[in-house]
Parts: sequence; structure tokens; C-alpha cells
Amino acid sequence: MAENKPDIKRELLNKDAPIGVFDSGVGGLTVVREIMRQIPNERIIYFGDTARVPYGSKSRETVTRFSGQIVRFLNTFQVKTIVVACNTASAYALDVLEKESDIPMIGVVKPGARVAAEVTKNGRIGLIATEATVGSRIYPKYIQELKKNVTIYQKACPLFVPLVEEGLLEDPVTDEIARRYLTELIDIDIDTLILGCTHYPLIRSTLRKIMGEGVTLVNPAYETARELKELLAGYDLLCEEPPALGGNRYQFYVSDKAEKFVSFANSIIKYGILSAKSIHIDAY
Ligand code: DGL
Repeated sequence: MAENKPDIKRELLNKDAPIGVFDSGVGGLTVVREIMRQIPNERIIYFGDTARVPYGSKSRETVTRFSGQIVRFLNTFQVKTIVVACNTASAYALDVLEKESDIPMIGVVKPGARVAAEVTKNGRIGLIATEATVGSRIYPKYIQELKKNVTIYQKACPLFVPLVEEGLLEDPVTDEIARRYLTELIDIDIDTLILGCTHYPLIRSTLRKIMGEGVTLVNPAYETARELKELLAGYDLLCEEPPALGGNRYQFYVSDKAEKFVSFANSIIKYGILSAKSIHIDAY
């Protein structure tokens, strides 16, 4: 992987530097959780754009502008890499961000597409995602590059993000909405369903109940963390030692409502998150 990126300025990169991760809100925490599990020595700076969520109903230009501001903010920490833990930003902005970046970046779409192409047996893959990700057709493009004779059935589920941001993870309302969205996918006999928005793994049990055991649910977070580890190893940037005690191993920033974010984050991440800081992302 490193060989494909000869323009990376290696002198800027430092093993002990943190990894930057961002999303429109809390969804990227599903990716952070995997990074913490798979490469526990790493420091992480997370940014959730809680003031401007959702991204999935916004235009490519807006999502690209927001993502650019966040990348500039994360770069103030001299991060060694940035994980775009948002499918919408990966679909709309990653290409542009990578071109302008001096450090390696990784999104969640390619890793998710790779897993789906690998696990499907009947070649019928469902994708649930935001309107933006579905409209970009980026998943069908990547999957069909990897595997011939595969059909991808896309379904935008715009209400899932606000439900998750409100913490309605197991709730009759979420159940009812999920049933309405998913019925058409059940009827067409898919054997694989990509959770193509990083918020969706948080309602996995609802999705599982509705889709049944016969459908493999693909959460791109696991594969993203695995590919991140490979990417860092490729640049010889993996942290070998845990950071010194007392250091700020994980830092969380948001653009609004830091307290609400902290209580949510603590409900899904086992590491005790004491605080998050609210910043003016428009200043970047
Ligand atoms: N979690 C994001 C994604 O993976 C964005 C959801 C949104 O803000 O609409 O697409």
C-alpha cells in the first residue's frame, strides 16, 4: 500500500503521533472501537461533527468542505494518518482530501466493499447507507471491480442516523422504521447486507432480528481497522509501546453538545471517556 503513495512526506510522520478519526457524529465511534481493539497502543484524536450531522442528506460540495475543515483541525495535532470513519465523507470527499494530503488517509468504503465481495455466495448483496452514499454508487463500483456477476441492491435509510444520534438503539420506533426500509431487501433474497454507514452497527441487533440469521451483516469497521494496521505497518508507523501513563491517549472533540456526546460514547466504548471538547470547526 505504501508503494502506491510515493508523495507522502515521510519526514512529517512520527510513530508516536496520534491517529486522527472523524465522522459526522457518533457513528465513527464504531470504527474507533475496532481501532482500540486491534491496535491498542495507538493514540487517537476523534472529531464528531455533531453541530452539522447528518451529512447523508447534504451535497458533495458541502460534505467535501466540512471534511476539509476537519482534516485541517486534525492536522493541528500532527496526526500520522487520518481515518475517514464516515461512508458519506469517504464516498464524496476522500479522493479530494487524499490529493491534498501529506499524510496517508483511509476511508471505510473500500474495506467494506472488499469484505462483501468476499463473503457473498449467491452474488446478491444489499447495501443500506445514507442517500449520499447510495447516490454516489461507490459501493457497486468497487464491488463490481472486485467480483464479476454480483448484483448490489441499494437502499437509502435516512432516518437511521437521527435515531442513532438520539440514542434510540433498541426502540419500537427504530424497529418499525427498520422493517419498512428492509422489507424489500428481504424479498429479493440477498445473502449479504453491508452496513454502509458507520452509525448502523449501533442498531445491529435490530437489523439482525429483521434480516434473520441467513444474511451476513458486514460492518466495514473491522476491516478498516485491519487495513489501517497494515497501512501503518507499511510506513513503519505502528506504535510498539503503549503511551506513557497519564498521557491523553484518546481525545474527543465535537462541534456541539460535548456532554451528550460523552455519555453516548461511554455507552458504546468500554474505555472510560471522561470528557470531550466542543470546538468551532468553522474556524478551520
Ligand atoms: N456515519 C456517516 C456515514 O457513515 C454519516 C451519517 C450522516 O451524517 O448522515 O455515512
